[in-house]
Formats: sequence, C-alpha cells, structure tokens
Amino acid sequence: MTVLVISGTGTGVGKTVVTAAIAALARERGDSVAVLKPAQTGVAPEEPGDLAEVRRLAGAVPTRELRRYPDPLSPEAAARNSGLPPVTPSDAARAAAELHSSHDLVLVEGAGGLLVRFDSSGGTLADVAWSLGAPLLIVAQAGLGTLNATALTAEVATRRGLNVLGVVIGSWPAGPDLAARSNVADLPVAAGAPLLGVLPERLGHASRDEFLEEARRGLSPWFGGQFDPDCFAGSASAST
Ligand SMILES: Nc1ncnc2c1ncn2[C@@H]1O[C@H](COP(=O)(O)OP(=O)(O)O)[C@@H](O)[C@H]1O
Ligand SMILES: [Mg+2]
Repeated sequence: MTVLVISGTGTGVGKTVVTAAIAALARERGDSVAVLKPAQTGVAPEEPGDLAEVRRLAGAVPTRELRRYPDPLSPEAAARNSGLPPVTPSDAARAAAELHSSHDLVLVEGAGGLLVRFDSSGGTLADVAWSLGAPLLIVAQAGLGTLNATALTAEVATRRGLNVLGVVIGSWPAGPDLAARSNVADLPVAAGAPLLGVLPERLGHASRDEFLEEARRGLSPWFGGQFDPDCFAGSASAST
C-alpha cells in the first residue's frame, strides 16, 4: 500500500476519524505514515482543523495542509469567497507524491464527498486519485440513506477509472436500528467492494490507547486490524 485516498458519501461521515484510525495502526506496526489534507474549509487560521484531530487521535503523525479557507463551503466556493487561490488536483497530487517519497503510506483526506470541486475548472478528489493511480476508500454512514449515497460514490468512482478499495462505516451507533443492522450486509454490495471496517461512534473522547485499540478492533487486516466483516454482520443481525 502506498497512497490511499479517503473520500466519503458526504461531509461529517467520519473521514477524519477513519483516516486517524488507519494512521494509528500504520504507526503501531512501524510504518511511516503521513496525512495530507489538500484543502481545509470552515476553519480560521489559528483553529485546529482535521489534521489536528488526526494528531490528537493517532499521535505524532506528519501532516500537511495545502490551503485553509475560513468559510464552511466546498473548497471551490470557499476559495472564491476568500479571494485566495484554489488548490488544484495537480497541487494535491504533487504534494501526495512528495510525501510518498519519504513515507511508506500517505493518506489523502478529501473535503466532503467525491465530486466536491476544488476549483472552477471542475477538479475534484477523483482527479487527485486518478493522477496518483491511488485506490479510493469510501467512508459511509451506518443508517437509512447510506446505500444510495455509497452506490452513487462507488459507481462514479469506477466510471472515472478509480479502484474502490472498500467501504468503512465511520460511526456505528451503540444502539443500531433496523436499517443500520441491515446495511452491514448491503453496503459492500452497494459499494461493489468489501466492508473494510466499522468504527464505533464513541471515539470522540477516546484516549490515544483506547483509540488504537478500537482501530485494531474496527479495521480490517488490510490495515493491520482484526475486523472480520462476516463476524460483525452475524452479530449485527443477531442483535434484533
Ligand atoms: N467514530 C466516531 N466516534 C466519535 N465521533 C465521531 C466518529 N465519527 C465521526 N465522529 C464525529 O463526527 C463529526 C464528523 O466526523 P469527521 O471524522 O470529522 O467527518 P468528516 O471528516 O467526514 O467530515 C466530528 O465531530 C467527529 O468527531
Ligand atoms: Mg474531515
């Protein structure tokens, strides 16, 4: 594994938490890992952004943010509003390749969902993944509505020539409802790719050790964890 692009079905689905969990496991097994956030929106210059959250949860991981815009908008709209130059997909791909020259694993976290624009030419995270030849990980919600959003993301990714590595549920509720339980089996079908993890919702205030333990429990062996999708699906459907 080299560069992995982390997208999601939308904003607030758990991309940053999943990115931090993958980084925590990589660090633990002694791989050098770096995290790139090409465009951070909705955060003032002195405020902590997604990368600060990654470092808080995963520990001292090298991180790089290319540009920050204060408005909580798409990178394209936030750049336009602020008068700052946009980040282009080639800026992002170049930064990822640079980080990759000195790290085993580079994680690239998008902003919002896959087709959110970086610039007025229509560049998106899909272009970043394509120019890097990097696989895409889709972070999805647990409940009702996630199957359609996941299928749309995976289908457009595939149509654009990307390899969808898998899908991870970013925030699994303590009391999953019928839709969430049922989605465990249907999400990999919607994604056309395996379920590579399920992280519990309570990770917000986890200590670093607790976070690492949950990352191990919740992420697939592909990332160095112990998550078994069949076992999880069995226990989810049994908890009716
Ligand atoms: N597994 C989780 N445990 C606790 N809080 C979570 C979890 N997943 C997401 N959140 C919270 O939900 C919000 C959105 O998550 P985040 O990872 O920032 O999503 P995204 O990066 O997709 O916008 C954040 O406030 C985050 O702390
Ligand atoms: Mg995020």
